[in-house]
This record gives sequence, structure tokens and C-alpha cells, in this order.
Amino acid sequence: MAFDARAKAMLAQGRDLINLTAGEPDFPTVPAAAEAAIEAIRAGFTHYTEAAGIRPLREAIAAKLHRDNGLQYAAEEIAVTTGAKFALYAAFQVLCDPGDEVLVPSPYWVSYPEQAKLAGAVPVFVEAAEADGFIPRAQQLEGRITARTKVLVLNSPCNPTGAVIPQDELARIGQLVLRHPRLYVLSDEIYEKMVYGGARHGSIAALDAELRRRTVTINGFSKAYAMTGWRLGYAAADREIARAIGNLLSQTTSNVTSVAQRAALGALDGTEGEVAAMVAEFARRREHVLGRLAAMPHVRLQPPRGAFYVFPNLRTALGLRSPGGQLLRDVDTLALRLMEEAGLATVPGSGFGTAEHIRISYAAALPMLQAGLDRLEAFLRALA
Ligand SMILES: Cc1ncc(COP(=O)(O)O)c(C=O)c1O
Repeated sequence: MAFDARAKAMLAQGRDLINLTAGEPDFPTVPAAAEAAIEAIRAGFTHYTEAAGIRPLREAIAAKLHRDNGLQYAAEEIAVTTGAKFALYAAFQVLCDPGDEVLVPSPYWVSYPEQAKLAGAVPVFVEAAEADGFIPRAQQLEGRITARTKVLVLNSPCNPTGAVIPQDELARIGQLVLRHPRLYVLSDEIYEKMVYGGARHGSIAALDAELRRRTVTINGFSKAYAMTGWRLGYAAADREIARAIGNLLSQTTSNVTSVAQRAALGALDGTEGEVAAMVAEFARRREHVLGRLAAMPHVRLQPPRGAFYVFPNLRTALGLRSPGGQLLRDVDTLALRLMEEAGLATVPGSGFGTAEHIRISYAAALPMLQAGLDRLEAFLRALA
């Protein structure tokens, strides 16, 4: 968001900049959601609701989780939150005590460690090896479990790497969790719809009843329905955890905007075709981006299987000089020079826990992507 803000400031100054930092689909919100919201306003549905969300929405989410993910949750086990971000925040708050350890596979989405710390917990990073496609492996995770480990964070498909945990590895991670009775799982599945090339998304809570009891499944409407601004997410968890999250909501945000909740109901009602069309467009762009990056110097890339990012390793560019003669001493400097000199905004890996990568979002129209990749290629070719 910081790099995005800088990019937007440069654009506001009239600078020529292509912005490939976006963490949100570049498509409009699905029309059924927008229509449902307008209808809700017209009908005066503009007052407080139950803190954890209106019952029809919680039922619709439970039905979605059953249909798409093989998960069985009652409406009482769903809490609708201000984005998936607040679902994660609330889950950390109710699961963690001060001093608890939270296993975070790295690279990671920026907010996990900070939210764990806000709950008094200590993030413990476990490297998901690049050579292994950034897939977190049960064996590596197990080596980092201590008497204090409370939560394991899973994010598949992963932001920023695009890694999708294969079903057999998910099963091994499930077995690992079962061997450690104190351990809970926070499974952030917000990119579930964006998978490519035969990759399949799996929900760990669907594997086993005890795993379901110890998992908080996080999802939301931001990515699948292009609804980032509506702030709509949810947590699904066993009754006691869901109730605790509901209590936290009632003392913090109260309900998600009533109108947005109706929009969410609209989004869940017969929009599969639109979602599939958006994913097909992402798939087309992904192919294009992978093809282009393969021909560029300094780029080493693990092809992502999900989400809408590529995360190339640019290690061999570090230590060289930019076209403008600046030393690229680290990946932050590289991303900054790329933005200032080549007019291309990306996100440096430092915020995601790596020192050698940049994240490029392909949530941008193809001509824009092509122009952005031209700039990247020219920049990389001019390094000395
Ligand atoms: C992995 C991941 N989880 C959660 C979120 C939060 O999404 P929201 O709060 O918009 O639902 C994001 C947004 O970028 C994300 O990338």
C-alpha cells in the first residue's frame, strides 16, 4: 500500500507511470452485488444489524463453503467482517495469548506478522523454499514447532508468490497439526478462485473433523467479486471460536455496513459465469507475463499457480547500476529506481520477507501490462 500510495502521488503529479502494484482486480464489482446494494438503500436497509452479520448472509456463506470447499459450517459459525483483513485480525486476537508463537511461511502477506504482534504473539518465519515453488512443507514447519506454538498461518494461493499447496502436502500439514494438540490453523483462502494450469485449491478444514475444529477459515469478497472497497470478509470456525470473534466484533466494528452485506448476498447469487470470465482473463495475462519474463535478463521465476501476481527473483541485478547510474544496493532501491527512472511501479519483496524479489501484479489490462513489461525489460537490459 505504501508503494501504491507513492505511485498514485507520482501519477497525481502528472508523471508517466505504469502501476503494477495493485492488490485488487481491475474489473468492476459484479453487477448483481451493486444492484443488491442499491436496492437495499432504496428499501431503507440502513440500520444496525447483528454484529456478526445478517442471518441470510451467514447462511449463504455456509452454503458457499459447503458447495465450493466441502466445508460444513452452521450460520452461527460464520462471522462477517470488515474485509478478510479484520477476520484475520479478530482470529489472531481470540486465538493468541501474549508470548504465543505464530508460524508464518515466508514469503508472506504483509499483515500476518503485524497482526500476530498486535495480539501479543511472536511471528516465527518458516522459509518456503523458492526452488520448491515456494510451497510450505510439513517437514519444515514441524521443525519449528515449540511448546509455545499456537497458530499456523496458511495462505494458498499465496500472495505474493502465487504458490498453491498441493493436496498431498495439505494432507501432510493436516497430519502435523493433528500431532500437536495445542496448534490452530488460520487458513487464508481469499485467492481460492484464482488458480491456473490445473492447480486445485483445497481447504484444510475439509480434511478431518478435528482439523475443522482447530481451523479458522478466512475468505472474503474482495478478490473473487472485485469488491475490495466494500470491505467484506468472513471467518468460519467452530462454534466457540466463532462466538468469540462475534463478541470481539460487537465491541469493535459492530456489523459490516448493512448495505454491503446485501451486496454480498447479491455476489453469491448466480455470478459464477462472471467470476469464471475474470479468472480466464487473469489466466490469459499470466501466460503473457510468464512468456515475456522468460526472455528477460536477471529474471529467475517460479511460475505462480494462483492469485494474480508474479514474484521474480532479481538477485543478479543487485549490486549493478541503474540506467541513471545509481547503485542497486538492495531490492528496495531497485524497485525505487525502476519506478523513478523507468516509470514502472512494482512492490519490493522486503515487505513480504524476501530480499531478492519484486512483486508484479497482473491485475491490469493487457496493453498496460505489455507496456510495463517493455519498461522492465529495457531497465534490466540497461543495467551495468
Ligand atoms: C492474502 C490476503 N489476505 C487477505 C487480504 C485482505 O483482503 P480484504 O481485507 O480486502 O478482504 C488480502 C488483500 O490484499 C490478501 O492479499
